[in-house]
Amino acid sequence: MTPEPTPYLRRLRRADAEAVYAAFGSNEDMARQGDVSTLAEAEAYVSRLIQADSHHEAWAVVEEETLVGLVCVSVDEANRNGWFWYWMADAARGRGWTGRAAATVADWALSVRGLERLELGHRVNNPASGAVAQYAGFVKEGTERGKFLIDGQRIDVDTYGRLRSDPSAPFERVPIVGF
Ligand SMILES: CC(C)(COP(=O)(O)OP(=O)(O)OC[C@H]1O[C@@H](n2cnc3c(N)ncnc32)[C@H](O)[C@@H]1OP(=O)(O)O)[C@@H](O)C(=O)NCCC(=O)NCCS
Repeated sequence: MTPEPTPYLRRLRRADAEAVYAAFGSNEDMARQGDVSTLAEAEAYVSRLIQADSHHEAWAVVEEETLVGLVCVSVDEANRNGWFWYWMADAARGRGWTGRAAATVADWALSVRGLERLELGHRVNNPASGAVAQYAGFVKEGTERGKFLIDGQRIDVDTYGRLRSDPSAPFERVPIVGF
């Protein structure tokens, strides 16, 4: 019997660009995550996230040495806030990995990293993203009505926050490697 695949988290690195490129090509819903339609654009995307003066804390979700997903906190140091975002390559979705990885990174950001508030937003027609946010302990704070114009339709965005002082719910942690 083949063992169940298990994910782990590690820092995003330059060598992940090819897997990032593959992830962006895996589902057309990745188009809203950034401009990555060539390997060179994937390399630039990764470079922006990991450069020395970057305000991003980017974590790769890894299966068998290959990046399959990303969880990132874009830090607003002055306010000790972080904008929280994530994506998963199509083939690795539906396994609960994004929820678990997001919960693990949120916990890290609010403890080891010293942030006090995390926030995120998702289109209301993207319920999987809302489920990830809730699994990761975020609380819905509101709705930005008609925020985006997509294919001629105005789409609402639900906004979520998580404070360091919020009670933490139990979750299945993803191991963090090499930190
Ligand atoms: C949103 C996204 C990250 C979800 O990734 P995923 O790996 O499938 O998420 P998980 O497997 O961890 O599932 C998380 C939850 O979403 C739920 N879910 C998955 N697809 C769903 C859907 N279409 N409708 C409702 N819930 C859904 C799962 O049941 C699970 O809920 P549970 O924990 O209560 O069982 C992925 O679809 C993606 O990368 N989309 C494109 C990028 C994106 O939209 N990122 C978010 C930007 S705000």
